[in-house]
This record gives sequence, structure tokens and C-alpha cells, in this order.
Amino acid sequence: MRICYLFILFLLVSPLAAQVSVPDWYNAGHEAHIDSLLSIMTLEEKVGQMTLFTSDWDVTGPTIRKGYEADIKSARLGAIFNAHTADYTRKLQKIAVEETRLKIPLLFGYDVVHGHRTIFPIPLAEAGSFNPDAAEESARIAAREAAAAGLHWTFAPMVDLVRDPRWGRVMEGAGEDVYLGEVMAAARVRGFQGKDLNDPFTVLACVKHFAAYGAAQAGRDYHTVDISERVLHDIYLPPFKAALDAGAATFMTSFNEVDGVPATANKHLLTKILREAWGFMGFVVTDYTSINELVPHGVAEDEAAAGQLSVKAGVDMDMQGAVYYNHLRKQVEDGAVAMRQVDEAVRRILRMKYALGLFDDPYRYNDAARERENILTAEHREAARRIGRESIILLKNEMQTLPLRKDLKRIAVIGQLADSQVDMMGAWKADGQAKDVITLLTGIREAVGKSTRIDYVNVPAIKGSDRTGFDDALKAARAADAVILTLGETWEMSGEAASRTDIGLPGVQDLLVAELTATGKPVIAVLFNGRPLAIPELAEKATAILEAWYPGTEAGHAVADLLFGDHAPSARVPMTFPRSVGQVPLFYAAKNTGRPLNPNDKYTSKYLDESNEALYPFGFGLTYTTFSYGNPTIDKKSITANDRVTISIPVTNTGQRAGTEIVQLYVQDVVGSVTRPLRELKAFERVLIDAGQTQVVTFTLTSDDLAFHRQDMTYGTEAGTYRVFVGGSSQADRVVEFSLK
Ligand code: NOJ
Repeated sequence: MRICYLFILFLLVSPLAAQVSVPDWYNAGHEAHIDSLLSIMTLEEKVGQMTLFTSDWDVTGPTIRKGYEADIKSARLGAIFNAHTADYTRKLQKIAVEETRLKIPLLFGYDVVHGHRTIFPIPLAEAGSFNPDAAEESARIAAREAAAAGLHWTFAPMVDLVRDPRWGRVMEGAGEDVYLGEVMAAARVRGFQGKDLNDPFTVLACVKHFAAYGAAQAGRDYHTVDISERVLHDIYLPPFKAALDAGAATFMTSFNEVDGVPATANKHLLTKILREAWGFMGFVVTDYTSINELVPHGVAEDEAAAGQLSVKAGVDMDMQGAVYYNHLRKQVEDGAVAMRQVDEAVRRILRMKYALGLFDDPYRYNDAARERENILTAEHREAARRIGRESIILLKNEMQTLPLRKDLKRIAVIGQLADSQVDMMGAWKADGQAKDVITLLTGIREAVGKSTRIDYVNVPAIKGSDRTGFDDALKAARAADAVILTLGETWEMSGEAASRTDIGLPGVQDLLVAELTATGKPVIAVLFNGRPLAIPELAEKATAILEAWYPGTEAGHAVADLLFGDHAPSARVPMTFPRSVGQVPLFYAAKNTGRPLNPNDKYTSKYLDESNEALYPFGFGLTYTTFSYGNPTIDKKSITANDRVTISIPVTNTGQRAGTEIVQLYVQDVVGSVTRPLRELKAFERVLIDAGQTQVVTFTLTSDDLAFHRQDMTYGTEAGTYRVFVGGSSQADRVVEFSLK
């Protein structure tokens, strides 16, 4: 009674207090089955359920174990990752359900991050669509294909907030913004898991990497994270909470430490926040060998001690490290780890196997005919093309060079990425296959009329320092009406273990840009890359720039659709493009400081050798028309707690063709008990407006939208003045104010 009272009191007063709701996949009937299963399982069988090994089909980490089939047979292994196809997973499943005592089905996981076989744009690109429906749809298709290929579980979405483009993994997330991150995290979970996990076209989501992995010092992968509790709660955790509220079934720990405690041994994160404050009922898996890594982290003497720390912190499943496999049984027998703790972990894991319907039919994901019918369908490709073009940002368009006419006499297409299938998929391509990919060269050839001559010159300028192909490129450019120059990074230059200190164009691409732009021909740069690049020279010299990221299987079609005006660009910058790597981290929701920039005062916050400005700010992006904003109106000048305020703004398409504008609303809390960001995105809307037409866009804010962790770390609002900015980027300049009483 007392404990219960204390817990309720904790929820009421704790800074971590939150509403706890029971997820759709929780089923009281299953719990009774789990109880009876637990009562007959041996300790070794229980530890088996807590063990996850990779197959040798794909390499996504530093180690591979041989002999996983024998481990399945001896019930020492409950889950496998990196194995797929309906047939192969059936073969392994058969061992589990026909050759073990309790016939507990295996769970199959894989990194289906942006598509399984039909590859969609990288998640960072998709975030730039500012279209959660698109993210949900691509996740739904990814789940459909993955499930058809025998998979039950994807290690996605990656919801790490990212503010340092040196970190290679920025490509996997939704960029720098808390609100956009929340919206995209929830959309992807809904997409993967659908409405009902028992539907065999859905997979379990795994929200990763819990937590704050994106704050690695100096953008170096796996590096130390040292952030305040306030930043953790206000900036890094909200997308995780949004994913959980959307019903996410599993969470993955991160490699990094948080306040001196590695996430994989972090009871504060895994138990206090995730389970007690947020009420998470699914299971927690480690990242790849991250229990073992507690030893080099320096918080455990050996792997046995590491395992003990992890299980006590709240880690249910050990990915690939074999630490639970090797040590947990003995630790329970010796009384060092409570059986109750093991039972809880196994319960959470079995809960998901029940939710997926695997106890009813362990082969329900193993139908080779269904696999053939559902993989890389025309519909999936069409969706990849549509979402691909919605994720591509027009950064520059001097003299309305784009869209290009389809009847130009000669177009020079230059650069190695123009005809590289594998690069278009980016990292984490799951079962994506290069042979399925439409390159830009193909897309252009299909788009133009018969009379247009395409001269392609493959210039391998990304790696190395020689100028192979430069002369031919110049010759082709001089003879052309337009030059389409592909630039960027090869696919493996971003993703895991792909941090870079120089985030300019690698290799001799800058030289190529200089020479080609000096011809005086219109040079349209198409960028393929996994992170915002510092490209001030390109921004200056190119006539037009399309940031295409890695668009996926339908890359060439998606880019060509925009180049030739069959569709207009609509995406926006999801993560600030700095002018120079020295400005990093650079993000719009920064604080004012006590000495905000004053160019005429030396003793203000600035650099001697670079401006404070972004090259392309968050939320920025052009299209083939222009928009103007009228005066915003607000229905109330002041609100009280639990009240709402409505802001309306007329947006006019001032150009010649219909276009999509992403109307964005930012809020500044002018004075707080702690310093507050200069502005924070709180709402946005994609609106399609016909040429010459005006549309009034209306947003509603509630007092909840203004909440944050106050000085005493309680979560809530503060009375005061709030400034609202509305416009087409984070530099929105239409302002209204209201106060919260
Ligand atoms: C390590 C990565 O950090 C994680 O994101 C991924 O899911 C696992 N490897 C499994 O491949």
C-alpha cells in the first residue's frame, strides 16, 4: 500500500512524470499463457529467450558467431537478426518449433531502415518532406516487404536527434528538430506496426538508440555524450516518447554513455524513465555487443560483471554479445541476479511473440509465394518515386533555370554518381539491390525527347586527387545547353562508423565545379549525400542546386521528375547546412546568449573568420513558384493554462504555376526561469496552392505546446509573453504575440 502510494506520488511530483497508457498490443489473455510457459521453462531456456545472434547473411557489426543453428536447437537462442527470405527464416524457425522441447518460435529482426527491397529515400531526406504521411507510407511498405521476407522486427525507427553533420548517422534520423523528430518518429512506428501487430504484414518497431547517441562529442561515432539532464529531457528524449506513445513495441539501447553511465547499463534511462515514468511494456534490446563494451567503457571489470549491470539496469535482450548466454545462468544460480528480473525480461519478449501471433502459427511470415508477390511491386516502386521527389530540396534556382525544357539539344551529364546504382540507396539498404535501381542518367534519358542528345562523362572525382575525366567533362559542357553535374558522397561515406571532419565536397569535386561553372553554361548541381555539407563555393557558383540525398530505388526517376518539371520540388532542409564545419553544431533553435551577435561590437558572440549564419537554414527550400505571406492574426491576446490560441495567416502563390508551400510556425518563450531557444517549431502544414491563389492557413496552439522543464526540473508552462513566427523557413518573419497568464 505504502509502495503504491509512493509510486503515485512519484508520478505526480517527479520531473519524469507522464501519462501511462496501455498499448494496443497488450493482451491480458497472453499474460496467462506467458505465466504458464514461464512456470515450465528452465533457466537456460529463459536465458535463450534473452539472447539474439546475427546470422552470417549480412554484416552489420564487428563480430560474427558461427553455429547459431546449433544454438537454436539447444533452445539457447530466441531471436536472430540479419537472416531473411521466407525460405531461410522458415528453415531456422523449423528447428525452433520442431526440435526444441517447448517449441517457442524465434523472432527475426533486421535493419529495415528505409525500405526492405524497394528502397526509399534515407530517413533524413524523408524528414525533409515535412510529410509524416509519406514517412508512414514508406514504413508500411517496408514492413510489408520485410514481413513477406520472413521478418518480424525492424531495428527502426532511428529517432536520434542530430545536430552535428560530422556524425555519419545523421542520415538515419529526422534531423535537428524536436517537433519534426516527434512527428516523424510516431509516423514511422505507425507505418511499421500498423493498427494490429497480429496482422502478418506488420513488424515490430525498435526505437533506437536510447538515448542521446546523436550528441556524440565532435560528431565522432560511438564517442562520449555529456549533456545536461535538461537537454536530455527537452531535446533528446521527446522523439523517443512520441514513438512510445505511438505504440512502439521495442527499444534499443545506445552505445554511448549518458552522464557517465553507458546507456546499456543505465538504470535511470532504462528503468526510471522508460518503464516507470513512461510505462513502457515492450522489451529492450542492446545495440550490437554493447554489453561487452561496458568493459572498455570502464564501468565493468569483465563481461560477467557487465551482464549483471545490464540486466539490473533493465536490458531484456543481449544483441550478439553472448554475455547473457555465457554468464546469466550462473549469476541467477548464485543469487547475484534475481530470477524475478529474468522472468520479467522473458515475459516482455514472449509478449511480443504472442502479439505477432507466432504461437498460433510460427510460419505465418514464411510464405515464399507471398514474398514473391509483395516484394518490389510496381506499386512500391511508384511510392518510392513519389516519396523520393517529395524528399528532394531545391536549394538554389538562379534565373529560373529549372525546370529544364525536355527539348534541349544537348545536355551534359557529369559525375560518377549520375550512373551509380549502389550509391543511390545510401547506407542501411537492407535487401536493396543495385540492379533494381534507376540511376539519374537513366531517369534523364527516359525524361527527355528523342531529339535531345545526352553526353555522359563519368568523372570519378569523389575519392583521390587526380583529374581523370575533367577534360572530357569540359568538352561536353562547352557543347551543351545545360550541364547536370552530380556531386556528393559515395554511399559508405555516411551511416554507421562514417564520421568525417571535413564536410565539404570530398575529393576534387570543388575543382570540377570551378572548371565547369567557368564555362558560363548553366550548371545544375544534383547532390547525393547523407549529411548536410558545407558547400559555400558550390552555393555561389552553381546555377541551380538540388539536394537529392540518397533517394533509393527510384532515384533517377524522382530527380528527373523535378529536373524537367513534371513535378515541382517541395522538400525543406531538415538539418541546418553550415557554411563551414567550424560552426558545427549549428541549429536554428539556439539560445540568444548574453551577448548576441552585433557585427559592430567585437565583444559579442561571433567568429573572426566566418559569419554565424547558416548556408541553408532549417525549413528552407524553394520550388518553381514563389509565395508571399500576409499578416498573421491571432484570436486571443492572452490565454490561461489548458486554453488554446488560433493563429491564421494568408499565403499567396505569387508565381506562374501551382506549388506546395510548407508553412511553418515557430514559438519563442521570451522570458523563462531558464534560458529558452530563440524559436522552436511547433506546427507546420504542407499546402498546395494554385498560381495567383491565396490560402488561409490556420494553426492551433495549446498551452501544452509551451511546456518544458523549468528551473526546478518540473515539466510545465510558465506565465509570460510568447512570440509566434510564421513563414516558409526557420527564418519566418511574420510575428504575433500572446501571453500565458
Ligand atoms: C549497430 C547499429 O548501431 C544499430 O543501429 C543496428 O540496429 C545494429 N548494429 C544491428 O545491425
